[in-house]
Amino acid sequence: MPLVTTTEMFKKAYEGGYAIGAFNVNNMEIVQGITEAAGELNAPLILQVSKGARAYANHTYLVKLVEAALIENDIPIALHLDHGPDFATCKSCIDGGFTSVMIDGSHYDFEKNIEVTKEVVEYAHSKGVVVEAELGQLAGIEDDVNVSADDAQYTQPDQVEEFVDKTGVDSLAIAIGTSHGAFKFKPGQKPQLRFDILDEISKRIPNFPIVLHGASSVSQEYVKIIQEHGGNLADAIGIPEDMLRQAARSAVCKINIDSDLRLAMTAGIREVMWTNPAAFDPREYLKVGRANVKAVVAHKIKEVLGCDGKA
Ligand code: G3H
Ligand code: 13P
Ligand code: ZN
Repeated sequence: MPLVTTTEMFKKAYEGGYAIGAFNVNNMEIVQGITEAAGELNAPLILQVSKGARAYANHTYLVKLVEAALIENDIPIALHLDHGPDFATCKSCIDGGFTSVMIDGSHYDFEKNIEVTKEVVEYAHSKGVVVEAELGQLAGIEDDVNVSADDAQYTQPDQVEEFVDKTGVDSLAIAIGTSHGAFKFKPGQKPQLRFDILDEISKRIPNFPIVLHGASSVSQEYVKIIQEHGGNLADAIGIPEDMLRQAARSAVCKINIDSDLRLAMTAGIREVMWTNPAAFDPREYLKVGRANVKAVVAHKIKEVLGCDGKA
């Protein structure tokens, strides 16, 4: 089937009390690992591409890899721009075959965020493409934006209705305590998500799909494998999976996961390279990384998102 937008996926996810996984893709093995897992579990899927991914792999290669995955797997897939920094990048993805884009104006003030989001929405909708925006600021690093934990800001529920009305956006990413990257909390810290803010937001904009960024759980198994096979990775913990399950049952229809895939891929490659220093056929280590990505995505779909069998 051709690429789809997220409209139908989100409607069903909202009504069914589950969420769609939005996984970042950067190369063939990552695309294969994710889509094989979703295909086998008959799960709807969002593949997302950041500005950095486009710079690394090239827009056309990524689109064609996703098109190949659609031929190999009979599931609905949306191709989404993650953290679109400006109108030009969003337009390039809209014109270049994406079915969904994020315009991330979260670092602007409220009025400017509305202005940049509205401009993208008008163009995207004229081409049948849907738009995600963000209100509030997550801590962490993505592309060239680095927000410290002190500067992170929860989304203000009293702003969401006006923002959605004025922009016409299709989904909204909110900040309730998640953060980007593999170092969200130090061991011993107690991760907390502001479900009270999420509830308040969903009351203000009923039936509106909410997006959670920074939702990796930072598998301790993969952190350990990396550390024990020559990696220099500080101990850290992520968002507990039971909190993500709770979010998936609520208005959260899209959950973004990248760092967990990076850890899975790295653990697989390190394990092969460390135990077999003579290995120099990239297929030998990449296939182990790919298998780890597939295992992580299958686990997320079944145990966290609850979207298996929903395609
Ligand atoms: O939220 C950001 C994603 O993890 C993408 O990261 O910008 O390094 O590709 P990236
Ligand atoms: P993680 O770093 O928690 O995987 O978040 C990814 C993300 O939000 C991509 O937009
Ligand atoms: Zn993000």
